[in-house]
Amino acid sequence: MGELIVEPLTATLGAEVRGVDLADVDDAAFGALRTAFLDHKVLFFRDQHLTVDEHVAFGRRWGGLEHHPFAKEGEAPEVVVIESTADRPYAASNWHSDVTWRECPSLGSILRARSVPAVGGDTLWADATAAYDRLGDEWQERIDGLTASHDWLKVFGTRLTEAEREQERERHPVVHHPVVRTHPETGARGIYTNRAFVTHVDDVDADESEAILARLERAIMDPNVQCRFRWEVDSVAFWDNRCTQHFATNDFWPGHRRVERVTVAGDRPFA
Ligand code: SIN
Repeated sequence: MGELIVEPLTATLGAEVRGVDLADVDDAAFGALRTAFLDHKVLFFRDQHLTVDEHVAFGRRWGGLEHHPFAKEGEAPEVVVIESTADRPYAASNWHSDVTWRECPSLGSILRARSVPAVGGDTLWADATAAYDRLGDEWQERIDGLTASHDWLKVFGTRLTEAEREQERERHPVVHHPVVRTHPETGARGIYTNRAFVTHVDDVDADESEAILARLERAIMDPNVQCRFRWEVDSVAFWDNRCTQHFATNDFWPGHRRVERVTVAGDRPFA
C-alpha cells in the first residue's frame, strides 16, 4: 500500500482520504481505513472508478450487505439507486440515519456518485455524538433511558398500495430503539432519533414526544456539528450510520443526480 493520507474536515466529523484505491484494499489499508472510519465517522474518496462488483466487494469487507425492500435496485441486488428523474425529482432531503426502521439498522453506507449536477446536490452530515454532547445535562437527563418508535411506512408507505403495505408490515413491524444510542465500537453516545422514520417517543405524552423530537432535530441541524461534501463523478462517501445523520440537498433541479448506495448491515442498537 502507498501512504494513506487522512485529512480531517472538522475536529470531530468527516475526513478526505487519499492514497487508496477502493477496488484494491489490502489488509494494512483496511486496518487504516477502519481506524479513520471510527475516528472521523464519514470518509470521502475522489476518483474511485469502481465497477458495480467492486463497489459491492468493498462493502462486503465491512460486513453483510442489505437488500432494500422499498428502494430502486441497481445493477446488483445490493445496490440502491437514488436518482432524480423528470417524474420524480427526488433527493433524500431529510435528516436521517439509514434504515433505522430495521430491528438491526445499518452499520454504514457507501455511496458513490454516478451522475452529478453542474450545481448543487451536495450532501451534509451531522455528528450525532457531538450533537448529544452539546445538549447539556438537563436535556441529556430528560431523554436518558427513553426509546422511540421507528416505522418505514412514514417514507415508503406512499409508494405502496394498501395490500402491499399490509404485507410489508408483517415483514417489517414497528421497531423501538433507544433515543440515545451507544456506539458498539467506540462507546460514544449519540442522538438516535430522526424525523424521517421516527413516529414518536415511547411512553411519554404526545406533547413531550414532540418537544423531544423537535429539540433533537434542532441539535442535529446545528451547523456546528456538520460537514458538507461536494460530489464529483466517482466520488465515494462512506459513513457510520450509528453515530451520524445525513441530508441530501435538493437544490439542483433540472440537473441530473444519480448516486448508488451499498448498505452494510449493523447490529441491534443499545442504550
Ligand atoms: C442517502 O440518504 O442514503 C443518500 C444521500 C444522498 O443522496 O446524498
